[in-house]
Amino acid sequence: MLPDFKFHHIGIAVFDIDDTAQYYIDAGYQKTETVIDTIQNVKICFLTKEGMPMLELLAPVDENSPVNRTLDKMGVTPYHCCYSVDDMEGAIARLKKIKFVPLIKAVEACAIGGRRVCFLFNKKVGLIELVAVSYTHLRAHETR
Ligand code: NI
Repeated sequence: MLPDFKFHHIGIAVFDIDDTAQYYIDAGYQKTETVIDTIQNVKICFLTKEGMPMLELLAPVDENSPVNRTLDKMGVTPYHCCYSVDDMEGAIARLKKIKFVPLIKAVEACAIGGRRVCFLFNKKVGLIELVAVSYTHLRAHETR
């Protein structure tokens, strides 16, 4: 973990987005539209409520979705904390020095406006996600 990290969301693995989201909607959460992230092969929505940490629900698209392994082992469960960073490459390099291993190259995540995300694992901390707060890549995307 790094001192300049800002908390972004908790990711929760679920079997069915709507089945789980309904409990939060009933508790006063707002749900974003569910989108399919074709790069990560998961369905995603976000749940927000004033004064509460943002939640992300992730459900499998098919049997190859990475979230299946977590669901098989644990059932519905929180499985990553996400932090926003200004400098994705810099943060990854610093995390590698304290024994975090990147699981994928930083990719664009359609569920959060095409911002780049990266997942890293550390034995003593577990799985974390980084999301880049810079929008420079969005501009690059639009000009394609
Ligand atoms: Ni996430």
